[in-house]
Amino acid sequence: MSDAVSRFDEGLRSILTELEGGAFEVAKTEQELREINARFVGANGSLTSVLKLMRELPGDQRKPKGQAANEVKQKIEARFSARLDALLREAREADLKAPFDVTLPGRGVLPGRLHPITRVRHELLDIFESLGFEVVDGPEIDLHENCFDRLGFPPDHPATDMQDTFFVDRGKGAGDRGTLLRTHTSTMQIREMSRRPPPLAVVSAGAVYRRDDDATHSPMFHQIEGFLVDEKVTMADLKGVLQRFLERLYGEAIEVRLRPSYFPFVEPGAEVDARRPGGSWMEIGGCGMIHPVVFEHVGYDPTKVSGFAFGMGIDRMAMVKFGVPNIKLLFENDVRFLGGF
Ligand code: DAH
Repeated sequence: MSDAVSRFDEGLRSILTELEGGAFEVAKTEQELREINARFVGANGSLTSVLKLMRELPGDQRKPKGQAANEVKQKIEARFSARLDALLREAREADLKAPFDVTLPGRGVLPGRLHPITRVRHELLDIFESLGFEVVDGPEIDLHENCFDRLGFPPDHPATDMQDTFFVDRGKGAGDRGTLLRTHTSTMQIREMSRRPPPLAVVSAGAVYRRDDDATHSPMFHQIEGFLVDEKVTMADLKGVLQRFLERLYGEAIEVRLRPSYFPFVEPGAEVDARRPGGSWMEIGGCGMIHPVVFEHVGYDPTKVSGFAFGMGIDRMAMVKFGVPNIKLLFENDVRFLGGF
């Protein structure tokens, strides 16, 4: 037997011995397994060296020895992939059995929250509710008569100008001013009083619209309206309610000042100013004793009942409360801004 043949046979035999001895099975990781595989079939692997002897074999031996080498190669591949499968399965099982780490930081949730205006609106309504007022809601689109005429605005009042009011096009042609976006929440006085007899104490808040748009005005803003009708209601009742309201809002003693002013639907009418003791006066709204003409327009007898009404802006209060410098910031719906409250 030629030297090459015996070295060839010896090489294959020792590879087989190694395989049978569990050469692949000792691998603990995929990396280790691949290193072991390279020891057989890598560039300098034992099988590779054996195959290099093929050239030196006598011609008639090449085919049978080639087949023998091929069988060994297949055994190597079979052992390799069996062990690889086993390792991957073990890794997966270990993964599933490993304790679940509850301390891993979770994926963040972004909870929504109420808009600062909504929060202040709820706070104001809650206070009035605690003072015995009933909270009602009303439409932002209303009739010209509820917004102006029945409140005693004369037909040519500047507030009804195209400059100030958004009219709603109902397809009735140019000049139709019958329907509009309410310019104030005083519409609720007409709506509620027309619906039921006195006595009543009602408060309502929501968006109002005017054709104002500059640094300090937004075309949409928010008001809260309150009114109380009974027998023998006086301006002292009005002032007392406003004072109580402001004290509950700010949680401290508040001075209230009524400054004579004009609104078509009240007589006398006044601007409401408030201040902390020693602080400076801040204008917070308008108020007054409900005008007899309003009572007539809702079917109340002005000789039998009296009442007061007040209206305040909510946005300014929210701006003061949250330190917002520009009203526009409140309505741009930028969560980077709104998320800060
Ligand atoms: N509606 C008025 C406005 O928007 C505010 C107002 C003033 C409301 C006097 C009232 C009131 O109820 O009595 O300017």
